[in-house]
Formats: sequence, C-alpha cells, structure tokens
Amino acid sequence: MSAQLKILAINGSERDGNTADVLRHAARVAENRGVDFETVDLRSIRMERCGPCGDCNDRPVACTLADGVPEVVAKMVAADGIIFAAPVHGFGTASLMQTFIERAGVGYLRFDRPLSNKVAGIISVARRYSAGEVWAQLTVNALLNRMILVGSGFPATVHALHRGDALKDEEGLTNVSRLVERMTDMMELLDEHRRLSGRSDALASGEVNERVGLALNELQAQP
Ligand SMILES: Cc1cc2nc3c(=O)[nH]c(=O)nc-3n(C[C@H](O)[C@H](O)[C@H](O)COP(=O)(O)O)c2cc1C
Repeated sequence: MSAQLKILAINGSERDGNTADVLRHAARVAENRGVDFETVDLRSIRMERCGPCGDCNDRPVACTLADGVPEVVAKMVAADGIIFAAPVHGFGTASLMQTFIERAGVGYLRFDRPLSNKVAGIISVARRYSAGEVWAQLTVNALLNRMILVGSGFPATVHALHRGDALKDEEGLTNVSRLVERMTDMMELLDEHRRLSGRSDALASGEVNERVGLALNELQAQP
C-alpha cells in the first residue's frame, strides 16, 4: 500500500478571494480522488524580498535570508504534485508569487532541482488581461524545475474581478477540474511505477542542474 498522494497548492494572492475560491474548488476535486490537498497562502508566511547581495547566480549555497520560504520549499519537496496559482496584477504575476518564484527558485531550487518529476499544475486568475501570459510564465518556471506538466485541455485561467466572481466562471472551473484530474492520473501512474520498479526516481534527472557546463557554474566548480 502506498502513502496517500498529496498536492500542495501555492496561493499568490494577498486576500482570501478568487484564487482561494478556485483552490477550494481544486481541493474538492482532488479529495474526491482520494488525494490530500494543502494550500500555502503566501500572504500568511513571512517572506523577505530578494536582498541587495546580487550574488545569487554565483553563490554555491542556499539563500541566507531567514524567513518562511525554506519551510514552503520543504513542503513542495514532500508533495507529489504542486499547483502554482496566482492572480494577474498589472499585466503580470502578482508580487507575492513573483517574489516566491525568485526566492525559492534562485535561492534554493536551482542547486539540485528537488522538484524534478513532480506533477505541476498552473492556474492564473484575472479579470481578463494577461491571464495567458502569467499562466505561461509560471509554466516555464515549472519546466525549469523539471516538473511534469500534463495536458488537461484548455489552460486553467479563471476570469474574475470581484470576490466571488471566480465561482461564476463555469468554463474556468471546468478547466481547473480537468487539470486536477489529470494531475491525479499522472501522480497515480508515477506512484505505481515507483512501487513496481522499486525506484524512487521514476525518470533519471540527468545532470544535477542545467548550469553544469555553463559559465554560470564556474564558481561552483572551484574548490
Ligand atoms: C493591483 C491589481 C492589479 C490588477 N491587474 C490586473 C490586470 O493586469 N489584468 C487583469 O485582468 N486583472 C487585473 N486585476 C484584477 C485581478 O486579477 C482579479 O481581481 C483577481 O480576481 C484577483 O484575485 P484574488 O481575489 O485572488 O486576489 C488586478 C487587481 C489588482 C488588485
């Protein structure tokens, strides 16, 4: 018997609003499939913005800012699937999620890509404009982390302005349901493969990170 599969959702909104409603919808879909679902609200953790050190690209060790980001990274590493959900602000990713992507990505994940082969889901929430661009930005970040993105039909972009509007976007919520269903299918498949093969890593990750062999990695290679 394998342990219960788990999806961790990262909510990049400043309020308990549309993105939270969409994630509650996603949680219901996951739980109907027997999947544990936890949401981390970035507004509730202590998160520093990137500092002035500017040495991220050369530093061979994790970020030294002391805040709640490493704890969230540990939760992501423990999960089977991860959903990144963010509202659109100013035609871009809302600043909480943007900060998290920078801090978690460059500060911790780039060394050995610990999210490799986890199943990713991306949701953007907007009144209308640039929902696709934010969805695409978060998608590229998931791919950078060597996560597995499942095709689930139309992108899970939800259109909503005022609190409560997301629950009226039937098409958006249908796309979110399909996303969670397909994530669950893939998580189950990977889990079964791991159990049958006895390998904890379903797919070889190859090089530890994509910086190997590039000038970016030179400092790390020095004794
Ligand atoms: C500061 C700010 C900027 C926004 N910029 C955009 C935008 O560029 N495009 C858009 O479609 N909606 C924009 N919106 C609307 C939000 O994306 C929308 O209200 C969304 O439902 C908010 O999600 P939330 O309730 O989870 O925070 C903006 C909202 C705020 C507060």
